[in-house]
Amino acid sequence: MHKDLEEIILHEAEIEQRVKELGDAIAKDYKCQEPLLICILRGAVIFFADLCRAIDIPVQMGFVSLSSYKDGTSSTGNVEERQKLMADVKGKAVILVEDIIDTGLTLKDYSQNLLDRGAESVEICCLLKKPEQVHNVDVQYQGFDIENRFVVGYGLDYAEQYRNLPYVGILKKEIYS
Ligand code: PRP
Repeated sequence: MHKDLEEIILHEAEIEQRVKELGDAIAKDYKCQEPLLICILRGAVIFFADLCRAIDIPVQMGFVSLSSYKDGTSSTGNVEERQKLMADVKGKAVILVEDIIDTGLTLKDYSQNLLDRGAESVEICCLLKKPEQVHNVDVQYQGFDIENRFVVGYGLDYAEQYRNLPYVGILKKEIYS
């Protein structure tokens, strides 16, 4: 385990198994369509890469960079589009792929944005969900519920560190306070 972590809450094998189940569920639900999977950079990148390979039907891929946290540990309340989505969403069955829902702001804001741009449907696939959302979002595909602690790894960062850890763990308080 990385020295800055208090404990690992999701090990590689557990994540792998759950991602496979999510991939199977998406393949079953979208077997007559070719969904556009949109990766919300940067946190979702690792999950997205694994999830795409667990879906056994044709999919399209899109990438957008959204951020509300800057380098801190709590939401700023504003979603900033750092890099725009290049894919055309008009008439598409979109699945937004996200690493974590905390306040729900990012997904609430961006799903509506895509519907306004003509997406036929927008569903959400999220690896982790914290317990208390300020903004209610319907999550179609969810990996795990987690406690309200600051987690890193498997794409999630603190000040751009720890994204490449293959597991999800709780960061020691002394690192960020
Ligand atoms: C994190 C995470 C989600 C969002 C979740 O992104 O990746 O996109 O916050 O929080 P919310 O539910 O309160 O909106 P962050 O802004 O840290 O950017 P990053 O993905 O580049 O790390």
